[in-house]
Amino acid sequence: MPRALVTGCAGFIGSHLTDALLARGTDVVGVDCLNDNYPASQKRANLACAGDHDAFELVVADVAGGAARLLEGCDVVYHLAAEPGVRSSWGLRFQHFLHHNVEATQRLLEAAREAPGTRVVYASSSSIYGESERLPTPEHTPPQPRSPYGVTKLAAEQLCRVYHANHGVDTVALRFFTVYGPRQRPDMAFRRFCEAAAHGAPIELFGDGRQSRDFTYVADVVDAILAAGAHAAAGGRVYNVGGGAPVSLNAALELIAGLAGRPLDVRRGERESGDVLHTAADVARAREELGFAPSTRLAEGLDAELRWVLDRAEPRVRAVSARRS
Ligand code: UGA
Repeated sequence: MPRALVTGCAGFIGSHLTDALLARGTDVVGVDCLNDNYPASQKRANLACAGDHDAFELVVADVAGGAARLLEGCDVVYHLAAEPGVRSSWGLRFQHFLHHNVEATQRLLEAAREAPGTRVVYASSSSIYGESERLPTPEHTPPQPRSPYGVTKLAAEQLCRVYHANHGVDTVALRFFTVYGPRQRPDMAFRRFCEAAAHGAPIELFGDGRQSRDFTYVADVVDAILAAGAHAAAGGRVYNVGGGAPVSLNAALELIAGLAGRPLDVRRGERESGDVLHTAADVARAREELGFAPSTRLAEGLDAELRWVLDRAEPRVRAVSARRS
């Protein structure tokens, strides 16, 4: 039976990946420290399906505390554990980003050195590019992160490269572009917009809404992660993983209003520091080498996320859901 380690298994992307691996008959050891960047109850809820499987083992631990035992018997490590958040990485909170993004990755790579033949798939980020000089952005574009978060994601990606070059650790880095869908983190734009739409609450827009993102649906991201775990030739490579159809936040808000069946109360404020104006992924490399082909259109993916938000809401709010159908 194949066996995988998923770090950050209770998070947004990690929990979807865990479900997909279990559905394919892979044994999964999931590790998560259930830290306080959002309520642990939400993270545990993300594992509701996985928890029903005998092939799933949850270890509540911090990867930075050592990962050697976790790797035992695993063919692939999917390293998704991280302190996420572009806008929250300033000030004293930076120490959490250093710890969970840089130190934890280094500890994991040290453990992987002792487990030859284990593939390590690292979840990198479009935030390493910063305000990219080229759109769509190919992988060889010089990285220029704009946020402390982006700096730590880039540092960890560089650690993967260094451990690959010096010690032959079999790493693959995937640069995700603003992933969305059911279980999205509560600080992220679409989660906040869908919740505001469901509750008829104001939406706080950081800037004029003309910034654009290459939003990527979580199931498409899971496909890319599984391909990166399976393709032998991907060792040492870096790939962009983007949805392929960048849109402005204003356009996305119009879609959400249409799906919710009500006008939105959008309040435009200042741009946040660390944010970039535009992201767009050149995914030619992932398409050619991993067979990556994102298939979820934004309207479809947003509908799934809004439905998930409504399903979790109180009955009074679910009236929006009834109006939609
Ligand atoms: C997202 C994730 O949060 C990062 O963890 C990830 O590394 C990154 O994508 C990536 O591409 O790799 P971000 O693009 O900032 O970062 O995603 P959102 O939080 O969904 O924000 C998208 C845009 O909406 C930003 O311009 C943000 O300022 C804006 N926003 C967000 C609002 O206007 N209002 C909000 O309440 C939240």
